[in-house]
Amino acid sequence: MYIAVMGYGTVGSGVVEVFLKNHESIVKRSSQSELELKYILDLRDFPDDPNKDIFIKDFNIILNDDDVKIVVETMGGLHPAFEFVSALLKAGKSVVSSNKELVAAKGYELLTLAEENNVNFLFEASVGGGIPIIRPITQCLAANEIDEIAGILNGTTNFILTMMIEKNMSFEDALKLAQENGYAEKDPTADIEGYDACRKICILASLCFGKHVYPDSVHTEGISKITLSDVEYVNRLGGVIKLIGRAKRVPGRKIAAIVSPCVVMAHSQLANVSDVFNAILVRGDAIGDVVFYGRGAGKLPTASAVVADVIDCAKHAKRKKLFGWGESEPNYVIDYKQLETSLYVRAEAGDRDAAIGQVESVFPNAKIILPDSSVKNEFAFVTDVETEAALNEKLGGIENISVQSVIRVTDY
Ligand code: HSE
Repeated sequence: MYIAVMGYGTVGSGVVEVFLKNHESIVKRSSQSELELKYILDLRDFPDDPNKDIFIKDFNIILNDDDVKIVVETMGGLHPAFEFVSALLKAGKSVVSSNKELVAAKGYELLTLAEENNVNFLFEASVGGGIPIIRPITQCLAANEIDEIAGILNGTTNFILTMMIEKNMSFEDALKLAQENGYAEKDPTADIEGYDACRKICILASLCFGKHVYPDSVHTEGISKITLSDVEYVNRLGGVIKLIGRAKRVPGRKIAAIVSPCVVMAHSQLANVSDVFNAILVRGDAIGDVVFYGRGAGKLPTASAVVADVIDCAKHAKRKKLFGWGESEPNYVIDYKQLETSLYVRAEAGDRDAAIGQVESVFPNAKIILPDSSVKNEFAFVTDVETEAALNEKLGGIENISVQSVIRVTDY
């Protein structure tokens, strides 16, 4: 049996490296007598690469080669990945993808195509890099009704926040370092503005709750407005700031989903997830909470998940894997402002004592956080728990404070 790899960037070259390095055991585990890499598709030239003889630039060579049964898509982006993957599935080839943008936007369509053509479309590497999460949700936890799923889903932003928290590094310097380490997307906006985490929570929510959740239905905030000042206040509170993607079941067969920076208290399992690591908490009705932790980005960790899917496709060449990922429906994702939360708020006030009095009269259980004694006109507080809509209304009614930042506080 032959495979091909489309896209020889960070992940694609990692896939080839792992596939060739562990080739003997990979073949054994695939239950095939042979499993060989036949083509690498990339428009760029790699004259010094040890695999230079199998590089091609024409997608049709893979599409029309009946010996190629499994194709790895590590090109990234929506186009032409969608057209290529659709054509391959229609041609009766299984496809393994690490492309979260593709899966989040087209998962339902591609899984339907795979089913119609009796092949597999697998995408373990699209969420959590090397962390096993898609297979555990769809197989190991299949007995559960999943009530909620939440996690640190983006390695780049977690790395940046860790550098800000632990090294007092500026946002810009930390981003540069993440890019140098190969964690960030080509355009880091997708990381720092939360779009990458949004795609990942859409994939997880679609799998957990059974209907396609599209990225444009999920309220998304990134970390670009987080300041070292917020990091310090939250540290005084006993927590850390993390970019969290979450989705939960709500009454009426609907779900809520959101990506935003959150204050995570020190006792949470998510609080100690640092650097490029990701962690995903799944709350099931039978198992309770279970947390998956590991390297969420990077060449070899991501390749590990891709190659495992290749082995799965080879081993189960005659068996389709069904994910229970159905079509979406209008208004399936409710307005996030209907969710209950508490908020961390940083505010400036000319008369701080009077402002604190006002905050305490509006939020009787508010926790007040005072800054260093050299700062006189600023403070922070954590509100009571109510719907975000109600909290916003109350906050708007507090006169004489100028709100500088608002961050949701998680309860896990
Ligand atoms: N840019 C992504 C991240 C890569 O930092 O998590 C892995 O999906």
